[in-house]
Amino acid sequence: MEVVIVADEDAAARISAGIVERLLTDKPAAVIGVATGSSPINTYRRLVEAYDAGRISFADAHIVLLDEYVGLAPDHPQRYRRFVHDHLVDHVDVPTGHVHAPDVDADDLNAAGPRYEALLADLGGVDLQLLGIGSDGHVGFNEPGSSLRSRTRIKTLTAATREDNARFFDHPDDVPRHVMTQGLATIGDARHLVLLACGAAKAAPVAAAVEGPLTTSCPASILQWHPHVTVVIDEDAASGLANVAYYRETHEGKPPWQHY
Ligand code: F6R
Repeated sequence: MEVVIVADEDAAARISAGIVERLLTDKPAAVIGVATGSSPINTYRRLVEAYDAGRISFADAHIVLLDEYVGLAPDHPQRYRRFVHDHLVDHVDVPTGHVHAPDVDADDLNAAGPRYEALLADLGGVDLQLLGIGSDGHVGFNEPGSSLRSRTRIKTLTAATREDNARFFDHPDDVPRHVMTQGLATIGDARHLVLLACGAAKAAPVAAAVEGPLTTSCPASILQWHPHVTVVIDEDAASGLANVAYYRETHEGKPPWQHY
């Protein structure tokens, strides 16, 4: 796991967008897993800038969502598919048919999870998965207690997550109770995981994920079980880590031939 500590959110976005840019250059038909929420917004802005500047194209790429709320109308502004369109898809050349999300409108929601898994497999797996982290240590919406081998399925959000996400809704009671999310095993199948976290509120979950035990109590600790992880955090989010000096030294001494 590579832990990259940067000055601020913009520097974090520069690194994560650079990782996506390099992937698309090397593999134009890449499958890119996208998170929603505040953490990746600046990354998507930078990717749109890179597209506008002619440096990248998404024409052959596929975009796959990490999760989606259950119970919101298809045109609800907080639907995650809508978020991904607003921040990325509508501003680049990815074909609409190349944007995939768990089918939360299916009659049989239990069957929708395995169908999403099959789709990810048909696409050849996820090349790069962007992740945020919840204040309770969730990744995707795998709340504490999620099985380490979980696959895409319905989860119930914790009260803490619903409170955190209430800022996006008119009323706290409007935050859905359920989501369909890629499981921890699904996320672990992606070939490269990039976790973005900024701000003091992320210090405790980042410390638990990076330096705590591998445990369902902190679902993001599955990062420790993955062969290729980049954790990009600002100084505040890094403030709970013990091995900061080592992470800095490693990054400062990063050889020019070694990419993220
Ligand atoms: C969103 C998702 C969540 C968020 C996490 C952090 O698709 O899967 O795990 O990444 O809740 O949210 P922000 O970035 O808003 O702090």
